[in-house]
Amino acid sequence: MMNDIKQEIIAAGLPEHVAIIMDGNGRWARQRGLERIYGHKQGVDTVKKVVEAARDIGLKYLTLYTFSIENWNRPRTEVDALMGLMAEAIVRETPELMRQGVRIKVIGHTTDLPAGVWQKISKLIEETAANTGVTLILALSYGARWEILRAARLVAEEYKAGKLENLEHLDELCFNRYLTTAGIPDPDLLVRTSGECRLSNFLLWQCAYTEFYFIDKFWPDFEKDDLYLAIRNFQNRERRFGMTGEQVRTEQNFL
Ligand code: IPE
Ligand code: IPE
Ligand code: MG
Repeated sequence: MMNDIKQEIIAAGLPEHVAIIMDGNGRWARQRGLERIYGHKQGVDTVKKVVEAARDIGLKYLTLYTFSIENWNRPRTEVDALMGLMAEAIVRETPELMRQGVRIKVIGHTTDLPAGVWQKISKLIEETAANTGVTLILALSYGARWEILRAARLVAEEYKAGKLENLEHLDELCFNRYLTTAGIPDPDLLVRTSGECRLSNFLLWQCAYTEFYFIDKFWPDFEKDDLYLAIRNFQNRERRFGMTGEQVRTEQNFL
């Protein structure tokens, strides 16, 4: 039955970019009387499954909220364990990512990452740069307010240096170029697991017209089919971008 859903969503026209807030690893583990880190370990397996699922349908962009700027405030032992898990997973999964043609990008305040982790990540980015399959964007040490502030600073610097002559020319399209997501289309669909219904400082600018989908499952329990169901749900929505439903439907008729 679920093979059908894959074909069905491909036929209906896929979103170009899906972003996921992978939440609930800690609670998944605690529910089983385990340390939170076991939830994170299990969460890595889900990441593998979801990347494969994205590949299987030919999704162009998949962004995963992997570690937020605020997550640095967690207990040192958990932060260290997470960094260790990431470094391990990168090394272990590089051949498979290459095989699947996945191209890795990273957005976030990466200078805060431990040097060893960043070294492995930059190597992975370099190695996968020419791949043409799914672009997998890892949000690492990412915070949307940090990103927007950074963009504002970059604009100010360019203005001061005379590279930006007229501030009137700074429109939304132009501002996009100063964000960490420059060149990446805005997410069409944002999925958050664990039942929480908040953005937690994720892609505030880019999600202006994104469709949200909240699922009441912890990240380690998330399945390929959950991604497909989220996409099907998205396909049944009407995105109006401020217009009336009638306008949108007439426009579609002209396409
Ligand atoms: C998501 O799971 C992973 C990260 C934020 C790194 P959590 O660790 O937030 O798990 P809960 O939300 O506490 O259950
Ligand atoms: C958001 O989850 C960050 C990631 C999934 C990486 P959190 O668990 O940190 O978010 P809050 O604290 O519940 O808002
Ligand atoms: Mg959480």
